[in-house]
Formats: sequence, structure tokens, C-alpha cells
Amino acid sequence: MNAVVFYSNTGQSKAIAAYLASQLGYPLADIEIKCAKHYQNLVLVFPVHCQNIPDIVKNFLKNISVENLTVVATYGKMCCGNVLYEIQKKYQKNIVAGAYIPSKHSYIKRDDIFYDLDKLKPVVEKVKEPSYIKLPKLYKNPLADIFPKLRSVLGLTIQKSADCSGCNICTEHCTFGAIKSGITNGNCIRCLKCVESCPHQALKIKLGLLLKLYLRKKKVNELIIYV
Ligand SMILES: Cc1cc2nc3c(=O)[nH]c(=O)nc-3n(C[C@H](O)[C@H](O)[C@H](O)COP(=O)(O)O)c2cc1C
Repeated sequence: MNAVVFYSNTGQSKAIAAYLASQLGYPLADIEIKCAKHYQNLVLVFPVHCQNIPDIVKNFLKNISVENLTVVATYGKMCCGNVLYEIQKKYQKNIVAGAYIPSKHSYIKRDDIFYDLDKLKPVVEKVKEPSYIKLPKLYKNPLADIFPKLRSVLGLTIQKSADCSGCNICTEHCTFGAIKSGITNGNCIRCLKCVESCPHQALKIKLGLLLKLYLRKKKVNELIIYV
């Protein structure tokens, strides 16, 4: 089977996946909803989290067989880490194309989304005519692997405002069982799916000083394509 599978919390990876699916004529599937285990052609789109591959994507990659894999990582213009190389090294060798796409950072309100979808045409063409490639190793901050999740957890809090109606739509949307009645627990990775899903915009984020300063760093607006 062929498919475009995505993991997305604030919609950036989903939008890219939807574009690729429409160009390829492949079905679009959410990694969090039951996905197939065997693929002939698979395009996997996901966000970089703390310069790493999100756990849910790692688990998916461990449990599938795929003939031709295309990997697309969206990142918030801070640092894309080395996630595509790590996928080829640790999980799946059969890679035909890859891309790092600079997107809106989940933690920055007025950041730009990625508009230049036409620039992804070489990826679409390569999926249609696959041949294997070897992905290069990129620079990754050596500190990136030290308690990656803890960095976002300590840097950001999710606060419930008086607008919360107690509808628990946030609870339904949370992948990790990490929020109930607008209050997060220790499972929360600060992916902000709850904030996005709240129909009353009752969940607000508060950035700590260190994360605020880090997010002011000069941005890397680089689209990297491997075909
Ligand atoms: C927990 C978390 C960690 C993140 N870590 C990074 C990072 O290390 N480097 C970066 O450039 N962007 C980082 N981002 C930003 C996301 O990669 C970026 O906003 C992505 O496009 C979001 O995709 P989505 O809307 O599909 O969830 C992070 C976002 C979250 C929520």
C-alpha cells in the first residue's frame, strides 16, 4: 500500500502532508489513528522535537516494513538536529527522499508558516520514481540528547484561564493522557495539541525566561531537500 502518514500537533506537518498526498494521489493518515504496518511507498511527515525524533514516530518506524520511504521533518527554524540521518541509521534504510522544512514554531505566535509548497515538487517526483539515497549527517548540538523533553517541560507552562468551560475537548485530543479539565500532569511534553484544540482558547502558554531568550536566537530559514 501507498500512504502519506503524518504526526502533527499544531498543523504544520499536517498541511505539508496534505499537499504531498494530493500531489501523489496517496491516502493521508494520522499516525495517532490506526495505520497500516506494510507499505510499498510511504511518505512520513513529522515535526522535530527538541532536535530529536518524537517518540511516537520512533515507535511507528520500529513497527513497520516499507519498501520506499520518504521522510519529511518540519522544524521551527531553531535547529533541525539530525533526525533524518538518525532515521536511516537506526530505523529504516530504504530512503528515497528527504526534506527539512522550516515552519512556524509552535511556541512563537507570530511566526511564518511555510508557503512555498511548489519547492517540494522534486520530492514528489522522486517518490514517483524511487531510487535509494544515503542521507548525510548534519550538525547536532551535543547537548541535544540530554533530557530533551525536560527542556520544553521546564521552559513552558500551560495555564488554564477563566474561559475554560470544563468541556474536556483538550483531554480527548491529548495523545499522552496528560491533561484533565485544563490541568496538565507529568506526562505532558508541551506539544500544544491541547492549546490548539480548545474551542474557547482557554489554554494559554507561558514561556520561562531561558526559553524566551533561546527563541529570540537568529533563525535558520533553510529548506533542505534530498532526492
Ligand atoms: C516540544 C517541542 C519541541 C520543539 N523542538 C524544536 C527544535 O528543537 N528545533 C526547532 O527548530 N523547532 C522545534 N519545535 C518546533 C516544531 O518543530 C515546529 O513548530 C513544527 O513545525 C511543528 O509541527 P506541527 O505543527 O506539525 O506539530 C519544537 C516544538 C515542540 C512542540
